[in-house]
Amino acid sequence: MRERIGILTGGGDCPGLNTVIRAVVKCASKRGWDTVGFLDGFEGMLEPLRYRQLDYKEMDALLFVGGTVLGTSNKGRFAAKTGHGESNRIPREILDLAEANFQKLGLRALVVVGGDGSLSSAQQLFEHGVPVIGVPKTIDNDLEATVMTFGFDSAVACATDALDRLRTTAESHDRVMVLEVMGRYTGWIAVTAGISGGGDVILIPEIPFNFESVCAKVADREREGKHFTLVVVAEGAREQGKDYVTSGSAEKNREARLGGIGAVVAAEIQKRTGKETRVCVLGHLQRGGAPTSFDRVLCTRFGERAVQLIAEERYGCMVASRPPDTVAVKISEAVGHLRAVPPHGEMVQTARALGISFGD
Ligand code: F6P
Repeated sequence: MRERIGILTGGGDCPGLNTVIRAVVKCASKRGWDTVGFLDGFEGMLEPLRYRQLDYKEMDALLFVGGTVLGTSNKGRFAAKTGHGESNRIPREILDLAEANFQKLGLRALVVVGGDGSLSSAQQLFEHGVPVIGVPKTIDNDLEATVMTFGFDSAVACATDALDRLRTTAESHDRVMVLEVMGRYTGWIAVTAGISGGGDVILIPEIPFNFESVCAKVADREREGKHFTLVVVAEGAREQGKDYVTSGSAEKNREARLGGIGAVVAAEIQKRTGKETRVCVLGHLQRGGAPTSFDRVLCTRFGERAVQLIAEERYGCMVASRPPDTVAVKISEAVGHLRAVPPHGEMVQTARALGISFGD
């Protein structure tokens, strides 16, 4: 009987999940292990127990397919994170059930592919006795322990493409175009896409803004004969002294849904400058589609390293990118620490040097 490992994908999806699954299954197979995938995140480990055997031969097709063939969930009985920095203890009977099902399938270890929330759940499962290895994903790139999460580069590519498109229509109509991007409580997508897509104003949570400054930039451009302006707004951006804008009340055991700041910014710019302003909310387009080549390579490296960590029995660890290496860090030290854009760091300084305004 061949040894078996398990894998699950948890939290919001992002491009590259299938690429990690493929790498894990292929590398495990080379070591003589089979892989089973739990369905819909941790939910598949509970009752009813839901999983599928991942066939080595099916894996090649997954290299560039977005989403996750295993399904995922960012709510449910296993939710360990409820808000900005808040976390829950998962009920003991739920951990017992997951552990019993893990044993029932005779698994050697479990690979959890997820963001801060899923990795917090993974840590609790590890403390409960399940040998776990974590792989960090999120388009937000907001995990402190890793320089890069996979999915981020693909989301930035999507936002950059959107800015390229918005630029031509903004220029044709002499308009201000506001692009709202995701990123939760950090501005990594906004600042990175803002630089690569030639944004004129970038608003991020780490640097609260005021409208005088934002509108002054629009006016400066007018004076320079540039009659259009591109504004990139992170969903977590906020006006100085104001709170985050949310798109709905938080459901029980779930994080607040950010969103709507783009419309607020567009309305205020139009009111103050008299310039016709439109808003585009990029939303889940950033989470769909094929991973970029950078993400495909990162996912493959992460998947391979995860299998290696199982072979070395370094349970409770998560793979992390510390260029040029992929290293292992303790999940307990990796979760709960938000990696924010340093307001005086190189990215922001580079943008400012180019004349980009942060609205402060
Ligand atoms: O964490 C990834 C993310 O896409 C955030 O950028 C965004 O705030 C959130 O998930 C959206 O979640 P949902 O898909 O539940 O609306």
